[in-house]
Amino acid sequence: MKFFASRFGTSRCALVAGLASFVVAGVALADGHVYTATNPAWKAECGSCHVAYPPALLPAASWRALMMQLDQHFGTDASIDAKTAREITAFLEANAGRARKETSATPVLRITETRWFQKEHDEISARTRRSPAVKSAADCEACHTQAAQGDFSERTRRAPR
Ligand code: HEC
Ligand code: HEC
Repeated sequence: MKFFASRFGTSRCALVAGLASFVVAGVALADGHVYTATNPAWKAECGSCHVAYPPALLPAASWRALMMQLDQHFGTDASIDAKTAREITAFLEANAGRARKETSATPVLRITETRWFQKEHDEISARTRRSPAVKSAADCEACHTQAAQGDFSERTRRAPR
């Protein structure tokens, strides 16, 4: 099974279990999901390999854990100097989503593994998931064309073929 399909695969079970571990706290604007928190170091360092994922999409504990192991970052080395790392960690924590209920001792490191993400994305067609234009579920920009601007609203979405 392709990586992408497996990432989305468990959403039904998650729904049935009904254990939302956290919600995206009041950061979205009224017209949809637009995340405005920004920081130059974060944008430069965390937006160079992939879109700079909005801090609100993971709770603070997740960001802390992720920032402590940048040398082993999802199979790649994303290390940065200690001063920049501290600045980015502080920014991520200050703008993080709120942790609701801890379902496990280890914080989830992937947005794509959170229950809200899987629930939100469980109706995407198999055809879209298999599209060569979508590298993985983490490839937000493939469908959210303005993700780099923090815009995940309906208006800027498209289904790649
Ligand atoms: C050297 C390249 C590189 C840099 C720099 C980098 N990342 Fe990543 N990041 C990756 C790769 C590769 C993945 C895995 C993508 C995939 O699974 O498709 C990833 C995945 C992630 C994920 C999980 C996405 C998901 O939900 O599946 C998060 C969160 C993340 N990065 C945050 C950050 C943050 C915060 C920074 C800045 C401190 C950063 N990244 C810098 C390469 C990088
Ligand atoms: C294959 C296409 C695709 C990919 C990749 C994708 N999304 Fe989505 N996303 C969608 C679609 C379609 C919806 C609307 C789902 C619905 O309303 O049923 C959505 C909804 C959302 C929403 C809710 C927006 C709203 O207005 O309710 C957020 C937030 C979101 N996605 C974030 C992300 C993030 C962050 C990533 C990358 C880590 C990502 N998405 C990757 C297609 C995608």
